[in-house]
Amino acid sequence: MKILAIDTSCDETAAAVTEGATVLSNVIWSQAAMHAKFGGVMPSLAQRMHKERIDFAVRKALLTTHCTVNNIQAVAVTAGPGLAIALEVGVAKAKEIAAKYNLPLIPVNHIEGHLLSPLANHNEKVSFPALGLVVSGGHTELVLIDKIGEYKILAKTSDDALGEALDKAARMLGLGYPGGAILEKMARLGKPKTYPLPMPMARSSNKESFSYSGLKTAFFRLVSGSNSQLTALEIYDMAASFQNRAFQHLIRVVTEIGKKYPAKDLLVGGGVAANIELRKRLRKLGKELDLKVRFPYSTKLVGDNAAMIGIAAGLRFPDHDLLNTYHPGQVDRKPRWSIDVDY
Ligand code: KG4
Ligand code: ZN
Repeated sequence: MKILAIDTSCDETAAAVTEGATVLSNVIWSQAAMHAKFGGVMPSLAQRMHKERIDFAVRKALLTTHCTVNNIQAVAVTAGPGLAIALEVGVAKAKEIAAKYNLPLIPVNHIEGHLLSPLANHNEKVSFPALGLVVSGGHTELVLIDKIGEYKILAKTSDDALGEALDKAARMLGLGYPGGAILEKMARLGKPKTYPLPMPMARSSNKESFSYSGLKTAFFRLVSGSNSQLTALEIYDMAASFQNRAFQHLIRVVTEIGKKYPAKDLLVGGGVAANIELRKRLRKLGKELDLKVRFPYSTKLVGDNAAMIGIAAGLRFPDHDLLNTYHPGQVDRKPRWSIDVDY
């Protein structure tokens, strides 16, 4: 079953065509450069750009696969979570296409898309229950995947998401937005033990949730405590020290919880999963806990994209007949949709 998928949850206008777990096209039109001057995503600008670009993205996704909407059997769209007025654009477009061509419309949870993104173009079997880790700009969640469509959140952040914290640290160092990838480059040149930043939640009895706000505040004090302009070397070492602590905390929580579950696979998705150092640490964790750690095969599947939305829909509904009940009129945006409810 070929699926046309759309995602406009944040600042990427994305459309894709997928079939089962196979990616046939994956068009991502990033708005990051337009939001950079505001130091973060401006919802009204995001909505306007999505409206301007969505038709082109859909057309390109279809053209790349040499098909038209007539070759498509279902439409999938990110219904949430995300920016309400941004989601609205993708949901409206998906409803319009589904209604016009009499196709079922599948609402997909954006986090489910990130969770299942490592399964794209994947031939090996994953055993369930599996563990899933989403590390993005808006979410840091460790999830138990009982099977496709059945999720239980094992841990989430009590304040900032990991990507958000990395972005803020990068901004404090004057590295621009979004800063996770730039921070990673700087961190590679620095020494992670130069600055003794606190380990998040070290003294808390709760070892089963993530938190980055304390680390962020300590980092702000460190950066703003410097009287003179930071040298390049100081920036490298500060970036390395922040990233190191942020990842140590993540690994600690995932290890603590991971060892309690009889999972054999750990699926990792979301923008921060592009980070090489994080991948190295998660693979090491995998060896220790006897988990096969799987990342998306391409960087185009790591950040926001629509192929992961099509794959989540395709894996949940392998059979077209199951879709009889999915009418476009019933679908609406759900900006605060949590992955463990409403499936
Ligand atoms: O999944 P994503 O594209 O969007 C959300 O759903 O939030 O994730 C974006 C986040 C941003 O915080 C960005 O700085 C971070 O992913 N990111 C990285 C890297 N590339 C993107 N963080 C660390 N290292 C990277 N290489
Ligand atoms: Zn995302």
